[in-house]
Amino acid sequence: MDAFKYTKGVLSCDGHDIADIADQFGTPTYVYSARAFREHYRALHDAFAALKPRLCYSIKSCHNVHILQTLHECGSSFDAVSIGEVRRALEAGANASDIVFAGVGKTPAEIKAAVDLGVGTFNAESAMELDVIASVANETRKKVRAALRINPDVDAKTHRHTTTGKDENKFGIEIGSSRALFQKHKDDPFLSLVGIHLHIGSPVNTVGPYVEMVTKALELISQLESEGVTIDSINIGGGYGAEYGHQPSATASEYAAAIVPLLQDRGLKVSLEPGRSISANAGILLTRVVYLKQSRTKQFVIVDGSMTDLIRPALYDAYHFIWPVKPSDGAAPTNRTPESRIAGATPVDIVGPVCESSDYLGCNRFIPPVQTGDLLAVYSAGAYGAVMSSQYNSRNRAAEVLVDDNGPRLIRRRETFDDLMACEREV
Ligand SMILES: Cc1ncc(COP(=O)(O)O)c(C=O)c1O
Repeated sequence: MDAFKYTKGVLSCDGHDIADIADQFGTPTYVYSARAFREHYRALHDAFAALKPRLCYSIKSCHNVHILQTLHECGSSFDAVSIGEVRRALEAGANASDIVFAGVGKTPAEIKAAVDLGVGTFNAESAMELDVIASVANETRKKVRAALRINPDVDAKTHRHTTTGKDENKFGIEIGSSRALFQKHKDDPFLSLVGIHLHIGSPVNTVGPYVEMVTKALELISQLESEGVTIDSINIGGGYGAEYGHQPSATASEYAAAIVPLLQDRGLKVSLEPGRSISANAGILLTRVVYLKQSRTKQFVIVDGSMTDLIRPALYDAYHFIWPVKPSDGAAPTNRTPESRIAGATPVDIVGPVCESSDYLGCNRFIPPVQTGDLLAVYSAGAYGAVMSSQYNSRNRAAEVLVDDNGPRLIRRRETFDDLMACEREV
């Protein structure tokens, strides 16, 4: 299913004209489809159904509380990586017991706050952190459930900045040393260390690395069992790919076809932490052309959206397909690949107003001719878009709009100059 479609030469989101949304809410604006969030959630859930999986939506990928509510209504649990994300999930109506608190550097204060709130599971990443969790549990006399994040030393074949399961990465505990930690905490009266957590990168577009990591984890679980340690659950992380258009990504059913047989008869509770596979293609960034400019070698389309709204191109050289909302030639794109060429067209760089040469949304793109005032849609911007936005250059963060059964509604207002100044004026 595709929430964003061209009908009679104009882009719409679930039947609502994107140009009207721009007129009503201004630009730059994120536009999300509630239907797409629900469908992407269900596609993963159904694909892994044989494992009766618990899907813990990765809040970090798109954290707007209205979107968390939408997913909570679908039955989603939540993966949080800070006490702020824990609180967001609670504000969206989640039960604390349905929240998994992960992250390599949870502070003792965050751990204490999360224990007090009754958070369901802690994914611990170091021996020192486990000691803190155990002592908070002891002090508060509360039973705390934890999993240990294992670093399986598997190459996820993704960008080096988003690879998390190799030895040299800061995440998790190397398999060899993990056994001693399970032994150490085996008889803790209040800490129940009974799970294995894995997450090797994002996005991981092929199934091979998952098979490798799960196989290694299962070997560890067998070994632990022979040493008297019981493991009742495995969290196989996130990183499942989304279709951006520049390279193929496995589908939910392809991931499941490779992973489910490995886990099916192991009697383990299985969790996943998908983020972008649910959120990326549920949203676009809507931006307006401000100026056109021609240098000796380049043609620039200067828009009102920038790296402060979508930093992925600058940070990871990430690819986002871009196309006019009302193409001048009426032509809807036939696919989302960078190779899509338009006969006779000159490639353009679509850039923002920020004072950095890395402030671009797309380079060397063949799009139908555009003019000042035209709207462009930056695709697959639902994940790691608004959540990574900043106020650099004293820019207000963009508005967010959710298209649901009752049409488009504002779910985060555009920031104002007063918002920018608030923390400085209040001192
Ligand atoms: C521990 C953990 N789980 C899940 C995710 C979600 O990844 P994705 O959005 O690619 O599914 C991340 C992302 O960085 C992560 O660090």
